[in-house]
Amino acid sequence: MAEFRLPPNSRPKKGGKVHKAAADAKRIRNFKIYRYDPDANENPHYDTFEIDLDTCGPMVLDALIKMKSEQDSSLTFRRSCREGICGSCSMNIDGKNGLACTTAIEDVKGDIKISPLPHMDVIKDLVPDFTHFYAQYASIKPWLQTVTPPPSGKERLQSPADREKLDGLYECILCACCSTACPSYWWNSDKFLGPAILLQAYRWLADSRDEMTGERLDELEDPFRLYRCHTIMNCANVCPKGLNPAKAIAEIKKMEMERVV
Ligand code: SF4
Ligand code: SF4
Ligand code: FES
Repeated sequence: MAEFRLPPNSRPKKGGKVHKAAADAKRIRNFKIYRYDPDANENPHYDTFEIDLDTCGPMVLDALIKMKSEQDSSLTFRRSCREGICGSCSMNIDGKNGLACTTAIEDVKGDIKISPLPHMDVIKDLVPDFTHFYAQYASIKPWLQTVTPPPSGKERLQSPADREKLDGLYECILCACCSTACPSYWWNSDKFLGPAILLQAYRWLADSRDEMTGERLDELEDPFRLYRCHTIMNCANVCPKGLNPAKAIAEIKKMEMERVV
């Protein structure tokens, strides 16, 4: 049966530290940051960090880096590229999944509450455990599969029109913002592949050079792996790259239908 509240040991407790800004700071924003330390044997809590916007870069990630460098070096989060390419800094910012590096502080009103991506196990603070997500990704065999040798031993070519069919798919950075915003994935992530992985699955189904279309469709044709998508569209609403996983899922369902008819 679905559980609608967090288990008791995961519910955030009240309290938490306040990390003050310098006394002469004039433009202060409060950030409430989810803290969880697996070694502390305590429920998670939120700490408040006062950030002086006059000495901070414009993005939420700039504020997190400032907190870690100047106020609490134990604050833990992932980041790498700082330009929306690596997908590392995905988190829940003010109730919406997104990338900290491409979310401007000025676009969030009031105190800024930041939590890890929802419905994932938390390793520490803002770092969720992607083990299951990556295993699901591996399960769709995200690489070109062929049976015939390439023509005259050279690379496999693709027409510009066929290459265009990958637009809106290849840009996915596997940040998991979509999957962790999908209610169907929350309740069925053990079996449902979720929007990110299904968009990736369609990326290979749509590739004119791939020769395993039938096998890929066989693997996906399952009441849970594919058909738990109920077109709720949360995935498309949160994707920081502007992609539409729900449309990719609909295309897979169409391909499944067309081979039955
Ligand atoms: S459209 Fe499908 S995959 Fe996207 S949020 Fe809704 S149920 Fe989840
Ligand atoms: S589809 Fe968008 S939200 Fe989902 S994993 Fe890819 S980039 Fe992230
Ligand atoms: S740091 Fe790479 S996407 Fe944000």
